[in-house]
Amino acid sequence: MMANRCFKLGALYLIAGMSLGVYMGATHNHTLSPVHAHINLLGWVCLLLAGLLFARFPHLAETKLAKTFFWTYNIAVPVSMLALALVFLGQPQLGPVVGIGSFAVWFGGVCLALNVLLNLKAGDLAVAR
Ligand code: HEM
Ligand code: HEM
Repeated sequence: MMANRCFKLGALYLIAGMSLGVYMGATHNHTLSPVHAHINLLGWVCLLLAGLLFARFPHLAETKLAKTFFWTYNIAVPVSMLALALVFLGQPQLGPVVGIGSFAVWFGGVCLALNVLLNLKAGDLAVAR
């Protein structure tokens, strides 16, 4: 189910993000700090929050917006993070991939936000208690 998949993917990002953090700390090379920050924040924090939303309000997981969020976001985050890391490591020609990837992450996040704005009703909070 959608919530479960968000939690599992988020957990993988937490491992990847923390590993990069430990590596940066150990080597005193903070070049990839923004990549580390966004792997943890977009990958772990946001997917955890999305998963909690889908678990608490299962009808939000059934919408087309939820599926569009899930697939767009989870393809765009790894692609943009990898491309961003490579740009920082000396491959500036991948800049456009970061740009398109970031736009796709944004679009995926907007789908999640629209899902909440359009499909979460005041009554859902009471019923789902
Ligand atoms: C084992 C765990 C972690 C280690 C060893 C670690 C290590 C680091 C290091 C070395 C930096 C660079 C600091 C600098 O350049 O000034 C950094 C930056 C950052 N980390 Fe972590 N980190 C860890 C986990 C996390 C987690 C779980 C999150 C978020 C949920 C996070 C969010 C950030 C952010 C946002 C920055 C950028 C801060 C800034 O630019 O001011 N980190 N981390
Ligand atoms: C489409 C999604 C996002 C894009 C394109 C984006 C882009 C950026 C950019 C360009 C910076 C400046 C980096 C620098 O000065 O080196 C930044 C910094 C930061 N962003 Fe994001 N961001 C996104 C989502 C988020 C989210 C969802 C969070 C938190 C949950 C977040 C937290 C931060 C933090 C804490 C910093 C400062 C730390 C740093 O400089 O590495 N961002 N972001």
